[in-house]
Amino acid sequence: MLNILTEKFPKYSKKLDQILKPVEKDLSLLEDNLTGNLYSGNSDLDKMVRYFFNSGGKRLRPAVSILFSKAINKGHLLPDNFELALAIEMIHTASLIHDDVIDNSETRRGVMTLNKKWGAKTAVITGDYILSRALTRLISINTPVAEIFSKTLNELCIGEILQKNQNYKIISLEDYINKSEKKTARLFMAGTECAAVITPQANNLIINAARSYSLNFGIAFQIIDDILNFNGTLQQIGKPVASDLKNGIITAPVIFANREYEEKGDFTLKNLIDRKFRNEKDFERALRIIFDSDGINKARILAENYIQKAISSLDVIENNSYKQALIDLAYYTAERKS
Ligand code: FPP
Ligand code: MG
Repeated sequence: MLNILTEKFPKYSKKLDQILKPVEKDLSLLEDNLTGNLYSGNSDLDKMVRYFFNSGGKRLRPAVSILFSKAINKGHLLPDNFELALAIEMIHTASLIHDDVIDNSETRRGVMTLNKKWGAKTAVITGDYILSRALTRLISINTPVAEIFSKTLNELCIGEILQKNQNYKIISLEDYINKSEKKTARLFMAGTECAAVITPQANNLIINAARSYSLNFGIAFQIIDDILNFNGTLQQIGKPVASDLKNGIITAPVIFANREYEEKGDFTLKNLIDRKFRNEKDFERALRIIFDSDGINKARILAENYIQKAISSLDVIENNSYKQALIDLAYYTAERKS
């Protein structure tokens, strides 16, 4: 069983824009390049690509990769790292488009999903197209980058199938973390690991720091995402509140809540989930049980532990504004509302 530490965690109030200031220009260039580089000449594909990229998104994965690259390279961004950052956001986008097909989701980032607007077939093809363009960029980088990414894509798929197979099952915390690592943390990890691998002066200590920072950051990010699914508003999270639970996706707050009740001999929550919420009343009852428990709070403490681990991974890197931004970003993740 994982240990839950209750170490004091600082309250954090910096805004994301402020934190990302040191890479503001790189991210603005990335934004200009994202859709332009995906031009296919097919008006249908181009329309869908534009629609998705214009719906927003924090561009956190490329931001983390660029920050790490600059933190270990005296503020210099290698052209290959910019390619890497573009490819990461494209892969993330393709995976979200496919995820929405799998989940039959109707909204993302506050707008209709591609599958809802144009149908699942069109959405799958658009995701495949964006993925294929990301791969073109990755193989142009002359190092083990393509190999790292092919493993990462494998892991993403395994994470997603694990989630599908665990539907309406009260999984263990270890299984939940394992799935979160694969479906979310691995892509963050590929971004920083590759940033280190393509930097000539990066030694093994730096490469390990790159892996450890984003592995822990990514797991924390997913736990917070799962908490927000419960206590965010429709406007903040861009999709219906508690949609994960409704769809049988069992996340940290539910696992902790269920553990708390089972320890008291109360199996109501488990029974409601086992019978896949026979009706709306069942679902609302389960939701009330979760909110009445310490589940969300315990999940937050777990995320904060991963954030602390992510931050200590950076000890081997010299202090500079990019490293500070990575630290700030980790704290921000715990406090984010969207
Ligand atoms: C969103 O997480 C989904 C993922 C992080 C991974 C999805 C992975 C795949 C569909 C397999 C790989 C596919 C490609 C094309 C690379 P979430 O469901 O927790 O978040 P959400 O609530 O925003 O949907
Ligand atoms: Mg999803």
